Amino acid sequence: MKVLSGIQPTGRFHWGNYFGAIRQYIALQGQEQSFYFIADLHALTTVREPAVLRQNIKDAALDLLALGLDPAKATLFRQSDVPEVTELTWLLMTITQMHLLDKCHAFKDKKAKGIAADAGLFTYPVLMAADILIYDSTTVPVGADQIQHVEVTRDLAQRFNATYGETLHLPEAYVLDDSAKVPGTDREKMSKSYNNTIPIFETPRKLRKIIMSIQTDSTPMEAAKVPETCAVYQLFKLFGTPAQQAALADRYQAGGMGYGEAKETLYQAAMTHFGEAFERRTRFEAAPDQVEDILREGAHRARAKAREVVERVRSACGLTAKPV
Ligand code: ADP
Ligand code: TRP
Repeated sequence: MKVLSGIQPTGRFHWGNYFGAIRQYIALQGQEQSFYFIADLHALTTVREPAVLRQNIKDAALDLLALGLDPAKATLFRQSDVPEVTELTWLLMTITQMHLLDKCHAFKDKKAKGIAADAGLFTYPVLMAADILIYDSTTVPVGADQIQHVEVTRDLAQRFNATYGETLHLPEAYVLDDSAKVPGTDREKMSKSYNNTIPIFETPRKLRKIIMSIQTDSTPMEAAKVPETCAVYQLFKLFGTPAQQAALADRYQAGGMGYGEAKETLYQAAMTHFGEAFERRTRFEAAPDQVEDILREGAHRARAKAREVVERVRSACGLTAKPV
């Protein structure tokens, strides 16, 4: 299996990112090829402050390493350290039909809201296709909202192959269903854009405060409560074992437990779950050179594979295989 995924450094990672994406990256490391990158070129479509982008990239690397991405089992790199990917983007763009991009949600959503969208956002799925195809990836772990982009990638690979002969491998999305939509503090899907996130690496005090702010209904303390429709319980399910989940569900249904207590249970579960990651992050933070070495070494490995595929693509469409 050749695994590949990217995550945008557009802000601090939250529980939705972890359960919807990062946890899967970690489960899939150690395959024949396990490539994970920080999608800094994609982030340029939204982050326009260089200092903020630099900080976000640093945080993304630290967070991923802290959460268990292991450089001995996986290749971690910055997207922009493999410039061949932008070359492949152009080559793919020449066979991309406009209507394919018109229906992609990132662009469509912005347009529907009347927000000016630039060509970068419009062609974003082609850059993503290049990210995937340039490493002959077979398996792309992503959250449900990214499945559409993997479909576009398959369409483009098929169209390229139909035009120039078998050159590109068709990848498949790998989605973890049960955590496809992690709810945020307002019970809507957790997302940076909705201001409802629970960041993974937050001071315990702030984390508790955020958890205590999760919206619940107004069922009185003594009354029985419905666990499945409560965001606190839905979030707890991500951390707890089946026995722990059943125990908390029983407490909901029995009545006599306030939401504050359920939130405290959630807070403790999160602290336990991420405890080791907090410690690892502190260690990596104190060793920035080591982190930079990991990213460079990763880019070096990724680039070797990217060059091989781009040479194949260049020669398939009639260019010299290698630039002189
Ligand atoms: P955000 O919505 O906060 O901007 P991104 O779009 O950068 O997050 O998402 C990065 C990855 O995390 C994607 O693969 C996405 O599907 C996944 N993800 C984000 N939010 C959630 C969520 N609430 N539940 C499940 N997965 C999520
Ligand atoms: N578009 C993805 C997101 O917003 C990030 C991404 C960029 C990606 N290139 C990719 C994910 C290639 C998987 C494979 O989450």
